[in-house]
Amino acid sequence: MIQISPSVLSANFANLADEIQAVENGGADRIHIDVMDGRFVPNISMGPFIVETINSITDLPLEVHLMIDEPDRFVDSFIDAGADILIVHQENTLHLHRVIQSIKEKGKQVGVALNPATPNHLINDIINYLDLVLVMSVNPGFSGQMFIEEVLPKISQFRQLILDENIDCDIEVDGGINTKTAPDVILAGANILVAATAIFKHKEGIIEAIQQLRKS
Ligand code: DX5
Ligand code: ZN
Repeated sequence: MIQISPSVLSANFANLADEIQAVENGGADRIHIDVMDGRFVPNISMGPFIVETINSITDLPLEVHLMIDEPDRFVDSFIDAGADILIVHQENTLHLHRVIQSIKEKGKQVGVALNPATPNHLINDIINYLDLVLVMSVNPGFSGQMFIEEVLPKISQFRQLILDENIDCDIEVDGGINTKTAPDVILAGANILVAATAIFKHKEGIIEAIQQLRKS
């Protein structure tokens, strides 16, 4: 089953409740919340308070993509705010195994994200512990960037590894996903698509956008 995870980074926050309702009506499977600290990535976005707000208006699972230094310092705050899936980056998490364990001990799902330039093999030894790997198809920090095609082989490599070793782990792709890039990403082996611009900035509206993305 292919899942669609709209990223609220491109939502209209003046109308957040309506936008989340449209996301639900469009058949989205989860909601992606991009947390940025202005250090790990050159942008600042939202904190636990926004997660709490979104949690109060939807029953969809909330995945929190932590693009922050020392993510372990904030894991608990995001769990308390209502996060169901916590995603940390490999590049800035020194004790990755420890962070993964601490998230799982709290009964939440855990994912690890890799930037486009980060080789897959850096997480091969811990993929068994993960609920998902997040393959970044843009350099994190902003929505509306162009899809980086060179990540397609990374998706296929993860799919092969997961099949070979019979691991239960989703492959999610984030950045530049739209009706043109989604088919390639799915063919390469991904099963969850994150999209901000293609959903929230679609000229025919959020519901139509999700349906078109799924059709593609
Ligand atoms: C980028 C974020 C993405 C972003 C995707 O740093 O992690 O989730 O919102 O935006 P689009 O779909 O517009 O590329
Ligand atoms: Zn993201």
